[in-house]
Formats: sequence, structure tokens, C-alpha cells
Amino acid sequence: MEFSVLTANPAKAEAGCIVVPILKGGELTPATAKLDDASERLIGQLIERGDFNAELGNTQLVPFAPGLNTDRLLLVGCGEQDKLTESRFRSALEAAMSALLKLPIDDAAIAFTDTDLGTSEVNWKARMIGEVANKALYRFDDFKTTKSEPPSLKHLTLLVSDPGEASAVEAGVKLGAAIGDGINLARQLGNLPGNVCTPRYLAEQATALGQHGNLSVTIHDEKALEEMGAGAILAVGKGSVEPPRLIVMEYKGAGDDEAPHVLIGKGITFDTGGISLKPGADMDEMKFDMCGAASVLGTMQTVLATQPKVNVIGIIAAAENMPGGRAIKPGDIITTLKGLTVEILNTDAEGRLVLCDALAYAERFKPASVVDIATLTGACVVALGAHAIGLFSNDDDMALDILEAGETAWDRAWHMPLWDEYQKQLDSHYADLANIGGRAAGAITAACYLSRFAEQYPWAHLDIAGVAWVGKKGATGRPVGLLSQYIFDREAEIASTAE
Ligand code: BES
Ligand code: MN
Ligand code: ZN
Repeated sequence: MEFSVLTANPAKAEAGCIVVPILKGGELTPATAKLDDASERLIGQLIERGDFNAELGNTQLVPFAPGLNTDRLLLVGCGEQDKLTESRFRSALEAAMSALLKLPIDDAAIAFTDTDLGTSEVNWKARMIGEVANKALYRFDDFKTTKSEPPSLKHLTLLVSDPGEASAVEAGVKLGAAIGDGINLARQLGNLPGNVCTPRYLAEQATALGQHGNLSVTIHDEKALEEMGAGAILAVGKGSVEPPRLIVMEYKGAGDDEAPHVLIGKGITFDTGGISLKPGADMDEMKFDMCGAASVLGTMQTVLATQPKVNVIGIIAAAENMPGGRAIKPGDIITTLKGLTVEILNTDAEGRLVLCDALAYAERFKPASVVDIATLTGACVVALGAHAIGLFSNDDDMALDILEAGETAWDRAWHMPLWDEYQKQLDSHYADLANIGGRAAGAITAACYLSRFAEQYPWAHLDIAGVAWVGKKGATGRPVGLLSQYIFDREAEIASTAE
């Protein structure tokens, strides 16, 4: 989508449709009031007569509006003013976009930046418009013979009442649009079936990203993994004919002396459970077990589009977890890249295996911080459901940074404990540690396992098992929003210490 900003009287805006927020029982926003004045009180009358119910998410199209320069008017219900939170603002925007995309128009204007959201600023609101608009364009019909009609809407003008806010709105919508595109890339990769999106396919995607900008990409194949001693990634890949890959993407936005921030994604392109085979019901959803990797690729794309002055390294540990003749078995003991030996008590706890080698690999970059992102445990789905990302960290300051980034991006995480008391659940009779910690606190013991490989730097683990996809409806692209924000905040941190 193309975006522009207009500070003139909204009644002068020319477009196929103009979109206005309506609050239940509340006053009209400043821009809406101007439109109301210009249109012989059309909007006010529709509300007074009860023709439009401003319940959150309701929309009503008015096919023509006297006194306005637009062909149509779209009213969008935002519910009561005192209940209007960031989350409800986003829902209203989603409703607006879905109604707009059904219209046979190529441009629209939207007057949403002057809604009163308490503390949230105009830049944030503009950003949400950019993000939600670009997300709304995404369709996944690659495998349907009959494709859905692509939306005709190409251009969205953001109407701004206060000219002093124009530059903040411009910057906000640009950032939001780049985040929306990154989210869509993550959704696309997540939605692709396991027979298309293999470890090698993920490597190709990284290589393709490297073609566009200042991103250098290295792909480690099995031979390279053997040479470096990445025994855990290799172990997971052994049951499959699709070979594993360790994918490394280096973005340089700051000087060599700036320690990089590393993002590591779990890229299990299909998780059968291996010899500890999963039950059949809903196993198809395990094609989404690479959504951590997808979020790293999506974030790298957003980073390339926005070029923040910070060094970022994206790493993807990709493998397919299959039960083959050469597959790892319960009881097998492997040696990881870090040198620690692991007794594999359940081959379905494979995510932590591929990640532990990537975490050890990250040490060589002397990182300022490392975040791993993984659809790691069913236990996290039980604990937090579909809304909050499970956050675990060995550094409380870093945990706060992640929480804050999640709040800003509206891609929220919840801090979970990583106390020493849980660590002994990973004791093994035969090796340095086991790869599972029993039934209790499954999301925490999975994080405890990873923590053993992340002792050399500030580290956070995001368990996205509950939030990465919605049943059969597809991948959400989370947490590209949080990760992009985390990177932008680190850029701001570098800029403020340089002053
Ligand atoms: N990819 C799964 C986790 C998962 C399951 C995510 C369901 C989303 C929905 C992971 O590899 C896995 O199988 N974890 C096991 C760990 C167990 C064997 C300790 C789990 O959660 O059951
Ligand atoms: Mn598994
Ligand atoms: Zn898995």
C-alpha cells in the first residue's frame, strides 16, 4: 500500500472513500466534526436517528456524501470513549480495513489519528494504521487453483488535524507499513506446507533477502555443521531426508565496535515428534513449527526496509523432525556444539536441541543481547493461551526491554520465572543434562535447558507456541512487531549514549 499524509480540511480530501471513527455516545473527533459540518450534519444525524450503532467493529458504508470530495463515507464503530484502549483501536482499524478492501476503489482517506487514546501518541496511531493496512492486504491462496480477486485499494491518505503532527504521522505510518510487510513475510513462510518450506527453502529465503540490501548471508550445510561440531542440530535432522541448515544473516547498521543484537529462530519445518511420535490429530499444524524462524526473517526484512543504526544478526536453526531409520532414539546421548552432552529422553523435545547449538554459535559474535524465538512447548499454550508470548530471561533489565517493546508494538509478552530451583528437573543419570524435565512446568524447564547454553550474554527466550498461528486459520506473523521494536529501541539506546 502507498501512504500519504494530508493536513488540509478533511472535507477537501479527494478519494474513493473517507473513513471516520465513531464513538458510542461520545463526541465526534475533530476531523469527523469538520466532515459533519461540511456534509449538512450527515454523520450527526445518522447517529442521532440510531441508523448507526457505534459498537466496536461495526461499519457502515454511506454511498455518497453531500459536501465532501469523496465518493463514499465509511463509519467505523469504536465503542465507548472511556473503553477505547490500544487493543480496541486496532480492532476498529482492522474492521475499517476489511470493509475498505471490499470496495471497488483504488484510494481512500482515513481520519483516525486524532482519536483520543489517552497516553498513546499520534506517531503510534499512524504506525498502527500502516501496520494494520498492510497486514489486511495479505492473502494465502498460493495453492488454490482459483485465486481470490486482489484488492483494488492501492493508496491510503492519513488525515491529520494538527499540521504540527504531520511529520510524526509520516514517520509512524512508514514504520508501521514496514512492520506490516515483515509480519506478512512471516505469515507467508508459516503458512507454506512442510513439503515446500523445508530447511533448504528457508535458506533460499535468507539468501534472497541478502540480495536486496546490506545483509550478508551464510548457510551452513550438514558438512559445515559436522566440521563445527553442531551435534544437536545434526541429531534432529538425522531422521529426515531433508538435511538441516544453520542460517546466519548479518545486518550492519552501526560501527564495528557496536556489539550486535542476535535473534535466533526455531526452524523445525515439520515436527512429527520423531521416534517419540506425536498423535495424529492436528499434526498438520506442526508445519508452523518454524514460525520462530519466520519471525526472524520477517524482522530482518523490516530492518532492511528501515535501516536502523544498529548491528543485528539473525540466526535460524532449521531441520525437519522425522522418524526415520537413522533418527535419534530415546536414550541416545549426543554432544552439542557447546561441548555439553545431552541425553535425549524424548525426541519430540527437538526445538531446544536445534536452538542450543545456535545459542552456542552466537557466542562468537560477542553479542550485546540474544533473543531466541520458538514454538517450543505445548505447556506454554496451556499456561498463556493465544495472547501472551512467554518470556524467560537471564537478565531482568533485558526482560523489561522486551516487555516494553511488546507493549509499544502491541505484541505483548508475559514474564515467566527461570529460577534455579527448576534446573534440577533436567538432571540426567548418564549425560550432562536431559532434554526434558518431566510434566511439571514444561515451558519453564524448556527455558532452563536453553539457559545452560546462553550463559555468556544477556539472553531472552520467547515461547510463541500459543501465539504464532490461529488453529487452521494460519500464521499470525508474531512476534515480528515486538522484535522490530526491540531493535529500534536498541538503536535509540546507542544514539542516546553517543550524545
Ligand atoms: N513444537 C512442539 C511444541 C508445540 C506443541 C507447539 C503444540 C505448539 C503446539 C515441540 O517441539 C514439542 O513437541 N514440545 C513437547 C515437549 C515435551 C516432549 C517435553 C511438548 O510441548 O509436548
Ligand atoms: Mn516437538
Ligand atoms: Zn517442535
